[in-house]
Amino acid sequence: MSLSKEDILIPDDGRDFSSSELGTKDYWDNAYERELKNYKEIGDVGEIWFGEDSQDRIIRWLDRQDDINVTDSILDIGTGNGVMLIELAKCGFTDLTGIDYSPVAIQLAKNIAESKRIASINYHVADMAQPITAETNNKALQKKYQICVDKGTFDAISLMDTQYTMARDVYIQNVHKLLNSEGIFVITSCNWTKEQLLDIFASDFKFFKDIPTPTFKFGGQVGNKVTSLVLKPS
Ligand SMILES: C[S@@+](CC[C@H](N)C(=O)[O-])C[C@H]1O[C@@H](n2cnc3c(N)ncnc32)[C@H](O)[C@@H]1O
Repeated sequence: MSLSKEDILIPDDGRDFSSSELGTKDYWDNAYERELKNYKEIGDVGEIWFGEDSQDRIIRWLDRQDDINVTDSILDIGTGNGVMLIELAKCGFTDLTGIDYSPVAIQLAKNIAESKRIASINYHVADMAQPITAETNNKALQKKYQICVDKGTFDAISLMDTQYTMARDVYIQNVHKLLNSEGIFVITSCNWTKEQLLDIFASDFKFFKDIPTPTFKFGGQVGNKVTSLVLKPS
């Protein structure tokens, strides 16, 4: 990739980030073209955004909750290479769906799942910055899920060109529509702090739990590089 995940790790004081290449579909299509080629040539699954630790923390948290069953439906929003779902399948989860607006990402995710002989994951192309309506003809968007997971996708949507800032609101409403009323939304971000996420999502979601992430100390201030939150629809 010409840009690395470091490009997405630029903190900002307010709610608005400048738009970036990472907020464009072209960027992701090109990135996944390269990752698909690499996967075919050398079997490298590509980037696990925010690192494997971050992914493992989410999976461990889901796995340890007494009120989460392995049969609960899980939607991974902006699934990328789909590796999070593969790991969830290995933990025994059976109702797994991944969506991404990049058809190349979906192709990569399908190829990886196929070569690991995991047939139980459904992958679909879907754009979460487009409103879901009664006319939306997409299998993945026609059902409700008990758990929606987002690692880095809302961050990417937040980097869309400023004329598309409405995309964030559409995204939030879409997640709300896709979740069961008793469901949970697990969001992991490195662009937004906990307070900012709670503020941005306040119209449709309320805080439920933190998934603890490592803290760092700089100049006496303690902060988190990555924020993982569990929200519930309000
Ligand atoms: C930072 S990557 C994270 C990928 C994966 N979740 C992970 O953690 O490895 C952001 C992902 O969001 C996808 N994405 C960005 N905007 C999207 C949108 N509007 N609808 C669906 N997927 C989107 C990108 O194609 C990319 O796969």
